[in-house]
Amino acid sequence: MSDMETQRLASDASGVRSAAEILRSGGLVAFPTETVYGLGADARDGQAVARIYEAKGRPAFNPLIVHVGSLEAAQRHGVFNSDMLRLAHRFWPGPLSLVVPLAPDHGLSPLVTAGLDTVALRVPAHPLAQALLSAFDGPVAAPSANPSGRISPTTADHVLAGLSGRIDAVLDGGACTVGLESTIVGGTPLALLRHGGVAQEEIEALTGPLSKAGGGITAPGQLASHYAPRAALRLDANRANPDELLLGFGAVTGDLNLSPTGDLVEAAANLFGHLHALDAQGKPIAVAPIPDTSLGRAINDRLRRAAAPR
Ligand code: TXA
Ligand code: MG
Repeated sequence: MSDMETQRLASDASGVRSAAEILRSGGLVAFPTETVYGLGADARDGQAVARIYEAKGRPAFNPLIVHVGSLEAAQRHGVFNSDMLRLAHRFWPGPLSLVVPLAPDHGLSPLVTAGLDTVALRVPAHPLAQALLSAFDGPVAAPSANPSGRISPTTADHVLAGLSGRIDAVLDGGACTVGLESTIVGGTPLALLRHGGVAQEEIEALTGPLSKAGGGITAPGQLASHYAPRAALRLDANRANPDELLLGFGAVTGDLNLSPTGDLVEAAANLFGHLHALDAQGKPIAVAPIPDTSLGRAINDRLRRAAAPR
């Protein structure tokens, strides 16, 4: 997918309006935050989120940070204990992401959390990010706006150098002031999951010493391996054995189908939700072959991890 024309949107009211429109229609917009540029999509729209992975060429699904305009908005999606509330009051808006349990009616696509039951939330301070979140009035999933494996972008030119032709637009807000990703805190006991824009000392001044053990959370980047169905998973199956449920793709119909038309974006959007739904029935799951191209690589990576002996 490198055939679309990527618009550079000016940092004025009309640029912000256009950016919000693109998000509303399921498109991808890079936007400045005070840390780095994020590649945004509607966090409730699984297909839009799948396009983030496609545009970045990410070979695996990592959970993404969900950006919202306020703590109040964040509490629609996640549950905040007293430590998390104090951190939010002290450092939001700002370069801190908080990993909290998903709220009951969180409304987010399971692709955003890579099937986990926690979500990373952040209220960015950059005025353009704030303007976009307020115009869009919904949660925006956004990893750094760079191709997978490349350096995080701190200008709109960096974004275009890496992703031009693969995303709808970049909202040009000049250079980011922090230039380093947000600090990530989460888990029980509370742990520092990634160093970033807020110093560990500043956080510990509020919470006391952070755990070094990772709060029961694997280092970010390896998290996708955490979710696996309880049942055994068998890959590359064209039909189910008598005791199995079949997760279909394309012409391999199955009990549930990731994408009857063989669309990998749709399949990615459905992956975690369908796995959860089949797993809830408590039987082993057979999975139809998925082409190992484009987003299919990330889907297959995820499926192989889920199928691995544990
Ligand atoms: O400054 C930033 O944080 C930038 C801007 C755009 O906000 N975003 C960013 O996103 O750096 P990304 O996708 O490059 O990094 C997100 C990190 C990943 O390492 C991921 O594993 C971790 O956040 N993460 C997301 N959800 C998580 C969760 N539920 N539990 C633990 N870690 C999580
Ligand atoms: Mg990144």
